[in-house]
This record gives sequence, C-alpha cells and structure tokens, in this order.
Amino acid sequence: MTDEGSLKVSLALLAPQTALSPTAQMSRLQRSLLLILSVAKSLCWGSILDKVTDLNQLDLEFDFIVVGGGTAGNVVANRLTENPDHSVLVLEAGGSNAGVVDVIVPFYSPRATPNTQQDWNYTTTPQVALNNRKIQYPRGFVLGGSSSVNYLGYTRGSKEDYDRWANVTGESKWSWDKLVPYMYKNEAFAVKPNDTGKYNPAVHGFDGITSVSLPGFPTSIDSRVFETTSELASEFPFNEDMNSGYHLGIGWEAQTVKNGSRSSSATSYLAPDFVKRPNLHVLLNARVTRVLQTEKSDFLTVEFVQDLDGKNFTLTATKEVILSAGSINSPAILLHSGIGNATSLTSLNIKPTHHLPSVGQNLTDHALLFFSFLVNSTDTWETAQRNATLAEEQFDEWNSSKTGPLIDPPTNQLGWFRVADDLISSIEGETDAAAGRKTAHYEIIFGSGSFTPAPPTGNYVSIFPALVSPASRGSVTLPNNDPLSAPLINPNFLLAGLDQLVMREALKSCLRFAAAEPWKDFIISPMGGVNLTSTDAELDAFIRQNAGSVFHPVGTAAMSSKDASWGVVDPDLRVKGVRGLRVVDLSIAPFIPAAHTQAAAYIIGERASDFIKETWTAERGAETEVTDRSPNQSQFSAMLAVE
Ligand SMILES: Cc1cc2nc3c(=O)[nH]c(=O)nc-3n(C[C@H](O)[C@H](O)[C@H](O)COP(=O)(O)OP(=O)(O)OC[C@H]3O[C@@H](n4cnc5c(N)ncnc54)[C@H](O)[C@@H]3O)c2cc1C
Ligand SMILES: *[C@@H]1O[C@H](CO)[C@@H](O)[C@H](O)[C@H]1NC(C)=O
Ligand SMILES: *[C@@H]1O[C@H](CO)[C@@H](O)[C@H](O)[C@H]1NC(C)=O
Ligand SMILES: *[C@@H]1O[C@H](CO)[C@@H](O)[C@H](O)[C@H]1NC(C)=O
Ligand SMILES: *[C@@H]1O[C@H](CO)[C@@H](O)[C@H](O)[C@H]1NC(C)=O
Ligand SMILES: *[C@@H]1O[C@H](CO)[C@@H](O)[C@H](O)[C@H]1NC(C)=O
Ligand SMILES: *[C@@H]1O[C@H](CO)[C@@H](O)[C@H](O)[C@H]1NC(C)=O
Ligand SMILES: *[C@@H]1O[C@H](CO)[C@@H](O)[C@H](O)[C@H]1NC(C)=O
Ligand SMILES: *[C@@H]1O[C@H](CO)[C@@H](O)[C@H](O)[C@H]1NC(C)=O
Ligand SMILES: *[C@@H]1O[C@H](CO)[C@@H](O)[C@H](O)[C@H]1NC(C)=O
Ligand SMILES: *[C@@H]1O[C@H](CO)[C@@H](O)[C@H](O)[C@H]1NC(C)=O
Ligand SMILES: *[C@@H]1O[C@H](CO)[C@@H](O)[C@H](O)[C@H]1NC(C)=O
Repeated sequence: MTDEGSLKVSLALLAPQTALSPTAQMSRLQRSLLLILSVAKSLCWGSILDKVTDLNQLDLEFDFIVVGGGTAGNVVANRLTENPDHSVLVLEAGGSNAGVVDVIVPFYSPRATPNTQQDWNYTTTPQVALNNRKIQYPRGFVLGGSSSVNYLGYTRGSKEDYDRWANVTGESKWSWDKLVPYMYKNEAFAVKPNDTGKYNPAVHGFDGITSVSLPGFPTSIDSRVFETTSELASEFPFNEDMNSGYHLGIGWEAQTVKNGSRSSSATSYLAPDFVKRPNLHVLLNARVTRVLQTEKSDFLTVEFVQDLDGKNFTLTATKEVILSAGSINSPAILLHSGIGNATSLTSLNIKPTHHLPSVGQNLTDHALLFFSFLVNSTDTWETAQRNATLAEEQFDEWNSSKTGPLIDPPTNQLGWFRVADDLISSIEGETDAAAGRKTAHYEIIFGSGSFTPAPPTGNYVSIFPALVSPASRGSVTLPNNDPLSAPLINPNFLLAGLDQLVMREALKSCLRFAAAEPWKDFIISPMGGVNLTSTDAELDAFIRQNAGSVFHPVGTAAMSSKDASWGVVDPDLRVKGVRGLRVVDLSIAPFIPAAHTQAAAYIIGERASDFIKETWTAERGAETEVTDRSPNQSQFSAMLAVE
C-alpha cells in the first residue's frame, strides 16, 4: 500500500492544479493518478470518516458540500458524484448506522427513537390544542437521517398533492406526471412470490436505489382487515396499490425493507459501491452551526463543530452548499446564518445577512392518535414482549435466516379516507386543506399489538387515525443565538377547527371499522374509555389528551414561484436572494403530502440532483467526457495493480 508521506505530497502537488484548471483539462495520466491515490486512500480509511483530522489528510477541495447525510442529502451526494469531475463532501452531525441493531431490524424500529443515540431528542413547545402537552419529537441523528430511524412505510401520497406543488410554484416540473421518472429512480421494488394482487406492477420502479417491498410475515389481523374491506366496501374499499397516485382505500403497506433488513438512504444511496467513488466523502459527527459568506458574498463556507468543545472548523465549497438537514434543522441553520426575518434575528442578537421572513414559518405536520382494542387472542406483539425466551428466539431467527416476525415493521396495512363534504364545509371561515377531492383527510394505521406501552396483562390490536391534510400551521424559531441549542418547534397540532373535526370523524371511523363482523369473535372492547356511544365532547377530550405526531414535519423553507412575496427557495430550490445555497429536504414542501413522507424526501432529492447537474452542465459546456472517465470495476483493479 502507498506510504502516507508520498501520498500527501502527491495530493498537495495535484490539488492546486485541480483548483486552478477544470479537471476536464487535466491529462489522462494526472486523472488516473488522482484516481489511484484517492482509491488507495479510501481503501486505507474508507470514504466515511469519523474525524475532521482524517479529512485534513485528504487535503482536497470540494465542489459541493451537503449539510446533513439524511434521506434527501444522501441522494444528492450519490447523484452528483456520478460525474467524476464533481467532488462532494457530506457533513453529518450523527454517527454511523452500521451495526445498530434497532436501526437495522425492521420490527425494532420503534426502539430506534426517542431519546436514543440516534435521536436529536427534540420536544415541541406546549401544544395549545393538546392540553398544553409537549410532544416528544424524534429526528434521525445518524447517517441516513430519519430514513434510518423511521417506521419504514413507503407511501407517495396522491397525484393531487404533487400537482398542487406544481400549481403553487408555477412549474409543471413539480407535477406528479413529471415526477414519476424520479419516483422510479428512487425505487427498487422487490417482488415476493405471494405479492400478486397486493400491488400494481405498472406503477413501480424496479431499477432504482432504495429497496421497497411488501410485508413478508403474516399477522393475526391481515385477513380480518381485508374481510372488512369486503363487508364495508362503500366506506372502507380495497385499494390494490395506494402508490398509484390514487390512494383512497385500504391496501398493503409498501416498506423500505431489503431481504428482512432496513433499506435507508445510508444503506442504499451510500452503499459500498457508491462510497468507494473517489469523489465522494462523508464526515460523521460534524455538526454544522452556520453558513458564512465568502468574499464574493456567496454563502459557500460552512462552519461546523465536532466534539462540542467550542472549537469550530470552516470549509468552503467551490460550487454550492446544499442544506439537507431536515425540516427542523435546515431552517435553524439558515436563521443562525442571519437568513430569516431581520427583525426577529436582530432581537436575538443575530446579525441579519438576508431578510427572508418565511424561514421557519408554515411548519406543517400530521397529528396522530394512538388507539387500541383489547382482543381475545394471544397472537399479538404483547406475547413476545412479555416472554424473553420467545423474543430471543425471534431475534435469532432474524439474525440467522432473515425470516420470522422481525422482518417487517409493525404495520402491514394502511387506509386513506375523506370526511364528507358537508361536514368539511360546516366549519365557518376555514377551507378544505386537502390537495383535491381524491386526496385523503385522514389515514388509518393497523397493527397487531399496542403501539403504546401495553398494560401488564391483555392482548391488543391497534386501529388508529392520523390527520393527513391538516389546515394548522406552526413554526420553527430560535430560543437564542447559540447554534447548539435546540430550536423551538411548534407544529400547532389540531389548532384549526377543521383539523379537530377531521380527527374526531377519523376516530369514529376507526370505531366503526372495528365493529364490523370480521372482528366480532376477536375484539373485546376499545381502550381509553371511548366507544361508538361517546359524545363529540368525550371524543374531543380523549383526542386532546392522547394525540401525538407521525413525525412528518415539512414546509419551513418552502418553495414558491419566482415572483412570490413569500417562500424561502425558488422552484429549483435555490435560496431566494442569495448565491451558492440550496435547500434539498422536506422543508421545501410548500404543502404536506397526504402520505408518510420519506418517499417525498427521496423524490425531492432525485429531482433536485438534476437541477444541480443542469446548472453546472450549462456552466461547463457539454459533459461528453463523463462516460469516458467513469471507471468500471476492472479499470479500478487495473490501476491498483499498476500501483
Ligand atoms: C420516528 C419516525 C418515524 C417515521 N416513520 C415514517 C414512516 O414509516 N414512513 C415514512 O415515509 N416516513 C416516516 N417518518 C418521516 C420520514 O422519515 C422523514 O419525513 C424523512 O426521512 C425526512 O427526510 P429529510 O431528508 O427531510 O430529513 P432527515 O432524513 O431527517 O435528514 C436530516 C439529516 O441532517 C442531519 N443534520 C441535521 N442538522 C445537522 C447539522 N447542523 N449539521 C450536520 N448534519 C445535520 C441529521 O442528523 C440527519 O441525518 C418518520 C420519522 C420519524 C422521526
Ligand atoms: C439524545 O439522547 C441520547 C441518550 O441520552 C444521547 O446518546 C444522544 O447523544 C442525544 N442526541 C443528541 C443529538 O444530543
Ligand atoms: C391552481 O390553483 C388555482 C386555485 O385553486 C386554480 O384556479 C388553477 O386552476 C390551478 N392551476 C393549475 C394549473 O392547476
Ligand atoms: C408469503 O408466502 C410465504 C411462502 O408461502 C409465507 O411464508 C409468508 O408467510 C407469506 N407472507 C404473507 C405476508 O402472507
Ligand atoms: C467559531 O469560532 C470563531 C472563532 O473563534 C468564533 O468567532 C465563532 O463564534 C465560533 N462559532 C460558533 C458557532 O461557536
Ligand atoms: C418579522 O418578525 C416581526 C417580529 O417578530 C413580525 O412583527 C413581522 O410581522 C415579521 N415580518 C414578516 C414579513 O413576517
Ligand atoms: C405560508 O404558506 C402560504 C401558502 O400555503 C402562503 O400564502 C403564506 O404566505 C406563507 N406564510 C409565510 C410566512 O411564508
Ligand atoms: C375467545 O373467545 C372464545 C369464545 O368466543 C372462547 O371460547 C375462547 O376461550 C377465547 N379465547 C381466549 C384466548 O381467551
Ligand atoms: C415463552 O416462549 C417459549 C419459547 O417459545 C415457550 O417455550 C414458553 O412456553 C413461553 N413461556 C410462556 C410463559 O408462555
Ligand atoms: C448474529 O449472528 C452472528 C453470526 O451469524 C453472530 O456473530 C452475532 O453475534 C449475532 N448477533 C447477535 C446480536 O446475537
Ligand atoms: C437474504 O438473507 C439471507 C440470510 O442472511 C441470505 O441467506 C440470503 O442469501 C439473502 N437473500 C438475498 C436475496 O440477498
Ligand atoms: C361506552 O363508554 C361509556 C363511557 O365509558 C360506557 O358508560 C358505556 O358502557 C360504553 N358502552 C359500551 C357499549 O361499551
């Protein structure tokens, strides 16, 4: 292996040249040399680095710095490094996802957060409509971000959700039809033998990056759920594939699972085949505090800390900084950088650099209500939760053969529904917040056990609602000017009268579902003191005391049309009014999709990667040399052999 001293010298000799002249003009020999050296480096240390000192040894310049190695950020890092001329550094605040059992085993996903090593450990501000309760608010603090800690459901939402994005930005490139190719670029749908009739092959991508599959282990409620779609077909119809653009009805949940293990942006977009690219580097434990202006007034310099010891580092990108720190931290970083409402920043002693009052505003999230029923069966999660021997057997089965109950997350089916029009219009002064008449107001989530800590005895099933087209909006703001302090997160759950109405109707709907014939010999009673005879006031009191979140925040750096008087980024996701800075994560969504949001995060990452490529292709002229310089495996081996 190359000795470290000569490696450094060679890099020092080559690096300035890379900076001065476009790599495209380097000789073939120089390029090969760079490649060999970089490959040698990554073989020594890997391209996923723990310490900033490892990065210094590389002594390379980066064209793009991606802030946050989360769901969308890793898509950008992967796609930009398809071009060997483009170097990318990802700065991720959290640590590695590798070997973390609660992150890897799908059924253990509820253990990955809250208040674990992989969590940012946030809580909301007191929620006025929820009896002033503060809600725990997990966010992935680990490579892969929230895709490493979520519950693995993969739902796109409705066609109307994306067509509304196109409408509000004035750009048809955000419409469902134009985004379908990007959905397929993300999705590697893996079919199992008994999947026929549970999905529509015509609406999936099979050659993408992130693995998606249907549940592989039956639960005690599967057949009852689908029998109910027959018995009560008008209210609870079967939908063969909720990812077709038309999502209303009940169907099988697609999940980001690959052969019994979690597929996240870290395991997929940063899989070994990609991480070995010499132009892709990831630095873990690197927490970005601010983006700073360079002399040219571009926001190309990132400031970050590693050990929270007060010492900070800066790095400057030559082309762009891409903020992908998620809907809570991307706006927080912008605000600490002075990009936000100048009045509020001044009052916090933060020097405004650019007045952009929408930063952090319009936070939108889905409220959820855990709700379960006592059942006459021992075939539910509680049985293994109370029997350590059985739990160990299940883990051993997963560990040795990737089979058994742990290969799926805790949900096999989902349903998407609307509340009657006349009820929606009964709320004065508020208008329907759904994207259209084929978009759900609420969702029902099914599970063969209790999602909340179950009482010491009894077995349970969960049939609970979430509000998926909320009217309420909140904000992410700062408590002070310390970039290491937690932001103030206020989703204003259920503040709007319309949202309270929908949640109440959704709860009634769950009770009606559970009263159907297929559940008669199974469900004993609803838990929590509410039932079909409860008054609206009783249901509302139950909701206020028990509602929480599905953890789908969006909208805090919203895109809007180029000439809009509000918004944070333009339709190409460039921060309005400044240069060098884009935001690529769910914070750019101007409206929340009626869906679990990871698919949208991947779609945004894929769509934005092409915007960025377009910008720098136009700048640099034709990219005809790219294929020529994309080395295949045998070329790599040959180069190493020469060495
Ligand atoms: C508990 C939970 C369950 C969920 N379940 C589902 C589900 O079943 N299905 C579904 O579709 N969605 C689910 N979601 C939501 C979904 O996972 C998120 O909406 C989506 O992954 C967010 O993607 P993102 O790219 O916007 O942000 P993230 O994936 O959160 O990425 C942000 C990244 O930036 C990093 N970062 C933040 N600040 C800094 C900083 N200052 N410096 C450096 N790095 C930083 C973070 O550590 C993180 O890696 C769930 C979320 C949670 C928390
Ligand atoms: C969240 O809490 C856990 C457990 O205390 C801790 O290990 C982790 O570092 C915390 N996360 C952050 C971002 O501080
Ligand atoms: C955009 O929304 C407005 C207001 O709802 C509507 O009138 C218009 O037809 C929509 N335009 C498109 C292109 O969908
Ligand atoms: C699918 O079929 C396999 C093989 O017959 C079986 O083991 C598995 O339980 C089935 N999965 C579901 C979700 O029904
Ligand atoms: C980083 O260090 C510089 C120089 O010591 C200091 O001015 C700046 O405030 C520090 N930033 C943070 C976020 O601590
Ligand atoms: C900026 O913040 C101030 C004080 O918080 C507020 O009064 C003002 O309305 C905000 N400006 C905009 C344009 O939102
Ligand atoms: C919030 O979003 C709406 C569009 O949904 C927009 O009209 C409004 O101006 C936004 N508010 C801010 C402060 O950005
Ligand atoms: C379930 O109910 C039936 C009667 O409907 C009863 O015979 C059976 O013992 C019950 N099973 C359990 C596990 O309680
Ligand atoms: C616990 O599980 C083991 C293994 O499946 C089983 O043999 C044992 O009977 C169970 N114990 C109880 C109390 O049910
Ligand atoms: C999983 O199985 C491997 C052997 O295949 C073993 O080395 C490892 O310890 C097991 N993991 C746990 C947590 O038991
Ligand atoms: C799935 O995992 C099992 C157990 O580790 C392994 O034997 C099998 O080859 C894997 N299948 C695929 C398709 O990767
Ligand atoms: C419904 O709940 C109320 C209040 O807890 C209770 O008095 C009533 O008996 C319940 N009705 C049924 C059918 O369980």
